[in-house]
Amino acid sequence: MTSYKDVYEGWKADPEAFWMEAAKAIDWDVPPTKALEDADAPIYRWFADAKMNTCWNAVDRHVADGRGAQPAIIYDSPITDAKRVITYLELQEMTQKIGGALQARGVGKGDRVIIYMPMVPEAVAAMLSCARIGAIHSVVFGGFAAHELAVRIDDAKPKAILAASCGVEPGRVVPYKPLLDDAIDQATHKPDTCLILQREQAKADLIPDRDLDWFEAQEGVAPADCVSVSGADPVYILYTSGTTGQPKGVVRHNGGHAVALHWTLKIIYDTDPGDVYWAASDVGWVVGHSYICYAPLLKGCTTVVFEGKPVGTPDAGTFWRVISEHNVRVLFTAPTAFRAIKREDPTGEFVKKYDLSCLKALYLAGERADPDTIEWAQQQLGVPVIDHWWQTETGWAIAGNPMGVEQLPVKLGSPTVAMPGYDVQILNEGGHPMAPGELGAICVKLPMPPGCLPTLWNAEERYLKSYLTAFPGYYETGDAGMMDEDGYLYIMARTDDVINVAGHRLSTGAMEEVLAAHPDVAECAVIGVTDQLKGQLPLGFVCLNAGCDRPHEEIAGECVKLVREQIGPVAAFKLVTVVDRLPKTRSGKILRATMVKIADSAEFKMPATIDDPVILDEIKEALKGLGYASTA
Ligand code: COA
Ligand code: AMP
Repeated sequence: MTSYKDVYEGWKADPEAFWMEAAKAIDWDVPPTKALEDADAPIYRWFADAKMNTCWNAVDRHVADGRGAQPAIIYDSPITDAKRVITYLELQEMTQKIGGALQARGVGKGDRVIIYMPMVPEAVAAMLSCARIGAIHSVVFGGFAAHELAVRIDDAKPKAILAASCGVEPGRVVPYKPLLDDAIDQATHKPDTCLILQREQAKADLIPDRDLDWFEAQEGVAPADCVSVSGADPVYILYTSGTTGQPKGVVRHNGGHAVALHWTLKIIYDTDPGDVYWAASDVGWVVGHSYICYAPLLKGCTTVVFEGKPVGTPDAGTFWRVISEHNVRVLFTAPTAFRAIKREDPTGEFVKKYDLSCLKALYLAGERADPDTIEWAQQQLGVPVIDHWWQTETGWAIAGNPMGVEQLPVKLGSPTVAMPGYDVQILNEGGHPMAPGELGAICVKLPMPPGCLPTLWNAEERYLKSYLTAFPGYYETGDAGMMDEDGYLYIMARTDDVINVAGHRLSTGAMEEVLAAHPDVAECAVIGVTDQLKGQLPLGFVCLNAGCDRPHEEIAGECVKLVREQIGPVAAFKLVTVVDRLPKTRSGKILRATMVKIADSAEFKMPATIDDPVILDEIKEALKGLGYASTA
């Protein structure tokens, strides 16, 4: 019997042969003669001499193999009370038509297309349609504001934008079209065409000569064939938060992405063709890209597109209903979703109402999985609960439990071990490996495996500087943590200004840029404080300009509004306090980490370089006013 150790050692002994073997599961127009192209190291490319099409592999080949009548997508939308099943044959037709509509408007290989859509099946079809015609899609999460969309439009310079007229959130319809119009107004780059999916909850006004109705645009167009692209041509760009307001455009290449994701579905998720796989996330995040759209479809599974929330749509039993109704084998979500369910239904009354015997495992990622939540999920569901750790940049798990090979013992608080492809090392500041149990920067020895980012869109220098410079020869994950004697990883904290709110990755630096633009704000700092439900919440401190005597509550309210307008509701920025001064080192660096400790009532050492320790008392008082630092 194969063991994790065998597979991992097999990869380590001969990565080239390992990935060439995995590549056999993909249909190539021109097969690869080698896996890794390292002539431009430390920029690496995978399957660069091969040609293929990702949409063919995710859709058409299953139709050709006789899976045409199998559901490819199950759309379940408790928030709009809608359900729909789309077979592989129907999905193929959708991608032919949407791809054809894009081609008819001049979109071709290498052109960028932005997708700004809620959780509807057309969003997945839109992604695949772009892949079909060799265009590069960039999905923008619907909870971002117009400004964030504008920043992405200016960076990606899309020829076309695919959008829906609205999204639906609990208690409100969110019209997307006004946000799209506003974003295009704000952006310097203008797309030629926008295709708008009109939803009945809010129909959008179309701008003549630019906007087209989704279905009308598909009428009479030639169905698009799959365009053969290089394995190292980008399939998509996904923007993610960095330390500044300028998001990082993570690039994903077609070949390595298809090979790696297909491979993960068996090895990590123990899922086979025909199984129903459900990632309860959003197409706007990497989990949605990899595990709502690409991996399950590449494997020939059925993927669930769920439009709703874990609670309140209509109740804390929604997840269980979806699992039992659609025969879901694997559920993947963020721990926050389970914390929300547990809070509403601590004794699992809703769980008891459904037959969940089809469910084989629960996977959690996107943020730290706290042991309480894991144990509760284990008790309620009676299936393995697997924490796994990854990031937008990697596109698939760096560490996990290889359930398709063998189930390793779960250690609470650890996402288990490094996956084949990743040589994970814990390094100290000097770049030397730390002993087991010692905290350091979590790094991956180069090259990163197929499917991981080869670079950042239009920003190779930033790519090198952000990830490859601090530890030469390694990729810096931005997470700090440790590894135990058995090779189990523990992810402790980010080493940068990124916070994680309900599994959503956000930049405190970006929020500071917004607050700093308020006319009365002289200086500010945003930190992430611990939250029982969302893991972390952003909290802002603002110092006002000398002479400003406006009421503090008024300014705080304006700050909250500004962040919502500029970054979006997803930032969940609702906590802000006005203070006289910020604690700093003598060289002027704001002591954000110390403020986080005070807010969370955690122990901390007085920083030796602090300029004026008295300020920390003022910060503590301000935090108490917001309900934090209660026992600090
Ligand atoms: N379009 C428009 N607005 C959106 C949106 C979208 N696609 N997604 C979220 N928002 C808004 C919400 O309506 C909310 O607005 P509000 O401040 O007016 O209430 C705000 O953004 C924050 O949303 P959310 O993070 O979803 O928090 P919530 O309080 O509405 O719900 C949970 C809390 C725990 C139920 C929710 O966060 C959740 O389901 N989390 C699961 C995590 C997840 O899927 N992560 C993905 C990565 S794996
Ligand atoms: P994102 O790019 O949005 O997927 O966010 C990636 C970041 O989320 C990682 O760098 C971690 O900080 C955090 N993260 C993701 N999964 C886990 C996990 N299983 N445990 C701890 N942190 C996680």
